[in-house]
Amino acid sequence: MTSRYLSICLICFVVTSVNAGGETPFPADWRSWSAVTTPLTTIGALPGCDADVSALPAIYRETVEIYCAVRPEGPGAVSVLVKPDQVATYNTRSGKFADGSNMILHLKDLQLLFVTGNQEGAALYSVYKEDGTDLTDANPDGILGVNTCRVCHSGYAAFCISGQCGNAQ
Ligand code: HEC
Repeated sequence: MTSRYLSICLICFVVTSVNAGGETPFPADWRSWSAVTTPLTTIGALPGCDADVSALPAIYRETVEIYCAVRPEGPGAVSVLVKPDQVATYNTRSGKFADGSNMILHLKDLQLLFVTGNQEGAALYSVYKEDGTDLTDANPDGILGVNTCRVCHSGYAAFCISGQCGNAQ
C-alpha cells in the first residue's frame, strides 16, 4: 500500500516539475479582475515589427522588439487586468502588493495571460493560456521564459516597481 502511494506521488512530482515553468499561480478567476487603463491599453495593441515606435520610451520600444514577431501583424490586442483588491496599489504605484498573483497582461488575440505576482515584495512571473495551461518557458525562442520578463521588469528599475511597469492613466 505504502509503495503504491509513493509511486503515485512520484508521478505527480515528475508531471508537476515538467510543467512547473510558472513562478506565480494561475488566477482562475481572472475574468472578473479589474481592467485598468495604461499607456499600452491606450495604444490598444502590441504592434508588428514594422510599426514606427521611435516616439515611445525605451522600455516600450524594447517590448515591441522582443514580442513583435510572434505573429506577422504583431501580438495584437491587449488589456491589463489587476486583482480587484490590488487596484489601489496599482493606481498609486506604491509597490505594496499582497503575496500572490496580482497583475495580468492579457494578450487577447493570442489568448495568453502574462501574469505577475509578488512574494514578500519580490516579483514573480508566469505565462498561461486562458484555460490555465502553463506555457512559461515554451517557445518561441525562450521569450516566454521568466528570465525575459525579469530582465525587463526588474532591469528598468526606474520604470517598474515591484514588477509593475505600467501606470494608470
Ligand atoms: C522588454 C520589456 C518587457 C518584457 C520582456 C516583458 N514585459 Fe511585461 N510589461 C512591460 C511594460 C513596459 C509594461 C507596461 C505596459 C503598459 O500597460 O503600459 C508591461 C506590463 C506587464 C503587465 C501588466 C502589469 C504592469 O506591469 O503594469 C504584466 C502582468 C506583465 N507585463 C507581465 C510580463 C511577463 C509575465 C513577461 C514575460 C513573459 C513580461 N511581462 C515581459 C515590459 C516588458
